[in-house]
Amino acid sequence: MNQDNNKKRILTGDRPTGPLHLGHFVGSIESRVKFQDEYDLFYLIADVQALTDNHDNPEKVRSNVLQVAQDNLACGLDPNKSTIFIQSMIPEIAELTVYFMNLVSLNEVLRNPTVKTEIKEKNFGDSTPFGFVAYPVSQAADILVAKSNLVPVGKDQAPMIELSRVIARRFNTTYNSEIFPEPEAHFGVEKNLVGTDGDAKMSKSKGNTINLNDDEQTVIDKVKRMYTDPNRLKATDPGVIEGNPVFIYHDMFNDNKDEVNDLKERYKTGNVGDVEVKDKLALAINKFLDPIRERRKEFPIEKVEEIVMDGTKRTQEIAKETMQMVKQAMKIDY
Ligand code: TRP
Repeated sequence: MNQDNNKKRILTGDRPTGPLHLGHFVGSIESRVKFQDEYDLFYLIADVQALTDNHDNPEKVRSNVLQVAQDNLACGLDPNKSTIFIQSMIPEIAELTVYFMNLVSLNEVLRNPTVKTEIKEKNFGDSTPFGFVAYPVSQAADILVAKSNLVPVGKDQAPMIELSRVIARRFNTTYNSEIFPEPEAHFGVEKNLVGTDGDAKMSKSKGNTINLNDDEQTVIDKVKRMYTDPNRLKATDPGVIEGNPVFIYHDMFNDNKDEVNDLKERYKTGNVGDVEVKDKLALAINKFLDPIRERRKEFPIEKVEEIVMDGTKRTQEIAKETMQMVKQAMKIDY
């Protein structure tokens, strides 16, 4: 086992609200898998956070907990190197959240750009759950309960990690301790991956994803419906490459660079139809997904469950240690 206590730690996670997609892959999964050799990596299944905007739909969260773990395992997260755990099974995270709330002002969380955007997107009206607004604080507790040094996430999560750094610093200063490291963010790609509809972000709620567990035909169908250059009506019209979702995906998922360059050249000069560009893209994405499909077979759901329970046990021990130190520093260690 590679899980040794001298290595620097990583904590990263997903909300279990649906199967993970290509945006998750390039945004965070890819770097997780790379980092797991060098770091002691914790992968959190954020079921408590998922409930902050799905409290009335617990079945949706429950049914995706093992699914997101399996998606990560299929992508190469190695249970012999990494620790996978369920957030709700670590009550210390909830406890730590309560203490951290005193270190952050209400305005700080209300001003958090990620929270602001999400509140708008989710159309809460004037019923935004209190728990939802507080989730950045609980995310800091996720990260800091494991004393993580590094957090690989998508770009949209930058303000979350920044707040975790602030909280770590304030805790250490206020309680005159050195318990928490200031975690650093690591971004997989510069920007979020665009959706198949050209929206700035691939996201399940927008229905513009290609999922890691999509079968071949589903990928073909989704690529067929993808947005391209809206001003290009015929194959003989010169087209625009920049910002064109089909070419953004070609650049990311097609390993045949000569083919991509040839398609781009012909697209710009009006010498290729959308059908050819998309057929080749669907092939490339399916080729990219094939090894993930193969590896998924090695992790049937019963095996995933065993792995997750093992990882949760290890995390529970670490969380208890952290909490002991926290309570001592806060003078509540009765
Ligand atoms: N907020 C993250 C997302 O929506 C999921 C998450 C929860 C997370 N806790 C975390 C990510 C801790 C990194 C570290 O994708």
